[in-house]
Amino acid sequence: MLHYKPNDISVPEFHKLLLGGVGPRPIALVSTLSAEGKKNLSPFSFFNAFGVNPPIIVFSPARRGKDASLKDTYNNLIATKECVVQSVTFSMVEQISLASTEYPNEVSEFKKSGLTPIDSDIVKPKRVKESPFQMECKLIEMKSYGESGGSANMAICEVLKIHVAEDIFTNGLIDPKKIDLVGRMSGNFYCRANGEAIFEVEKPIAKKGIGYDQLPDFIKHSHVFTANNLAKFASVESIPSEKSVRDFITEIAKEKFEGFELSEEAFYRYQRLSDYKFMMKTAIQFVDKNHPKAKNFTELTAKCALEYNDTDYAWKVILTIANFSNQS
Ligand SMILES: Cc1cc2nc3c(=O)[nH]c(=O)nc-3n(C[C@H](O)[C@H](O)[C@H](O)COP(=O)(O)O)c2cc1C
Repeated sequence: MLHYKPNDISVPEFHKLLLGGVGPRPIALVSTLSAEGKKNLSPFSFFNAFGVNPPIIVFSPARRGKDASLKDTYNNLIATKECVVQSVTFSMVEQISLASTEYPNEVSEFKKSGLTPIDSDIVKPKRVKESPFQMECKLIEMKSYGESGGSANMAICEVLKIHVAEDIFTNGLIDPKKIDLVGRMSGNFYCRANGEAIFEVEKPIAKKGIGYDQLPDFIKHSHVFTANNLAKFASVESIPSEKSVRDFITEIAKEKFEGFELSEEAFYRYQRLSDYKFMMKTAIQFVDKNHPKAKNFTELTAKCALEYNDTDYAWKVILTIANFSNQS
């Protein structure tokens, strides 16, 4: 590991480190008006939501690194106390990058970026039509930390009204694949929250998992399972009983698998297809025959089931090894 206190390296170097490690960061596309009524639009990735009752969001129009001057968004917020904060989607990422250009105060980034201003309901600053998620906000407090280049100005805002496109929902939830958000990472890197980047992790709140310490050693010491796999094993409330594993094995032995082929080659084909039930049909017969690959195939099958969130199945698969060795 490398170790740094803020004074060990320059401010830009520390900035670079923070940006690399704290991410991906959501991006607030902030629309404000100057005291004279000039429109302003800028992206800020030092941003997040911090509560819902009342709904609070915070972003930081920091002091400019080069001369410690204050940004237009900061000055506008101090003068008018209102903003609209919108989420940034992949389809508009180049436009918001353009909007981050340091144009003079009198130039509207709406015009420069080609993004479309539309009226808000409560506040005076405009909303951005292209964003499917827009929050009308009032500034509650501006908290400043330092007066040097890169010093934070935390704009703490209350959300007064949300506007959200109806076509980004699935079953009442904003669907990450439909909203297609982007996040900011280090340097010029962004990430797109879509496709394979999106996955689900079941909330452990409703149940109390047995925990890592309760995992049998033969699972913990396996070279097949990753730390994530082990944590998923540890998330169940109880380990399946010996009887349920025996029933599981009997059931698989009885069941006809249409087109099933018993061979190492076929197993790897089922693995490529993530067909863990066909993998198990192979593994179980390999265990029965004391095949040298039996343990490995059983572990690979359990891993595949875990990755498809079929944790109960994965447990029964992995306990098959223990069950057979108990019998022998
Ligand atoms: C994706 C992205 C994220 C940014 N995040 C921040 C940030 O969190 N804080 C900040 O001060 N500047 C940030 N910037 C730079 C500002 O957008 C830029 O300084 C902008 O010109 C400020 O505009 P203003 O002076 O009109 O407020 C970011 C730029 C981009 C492209």
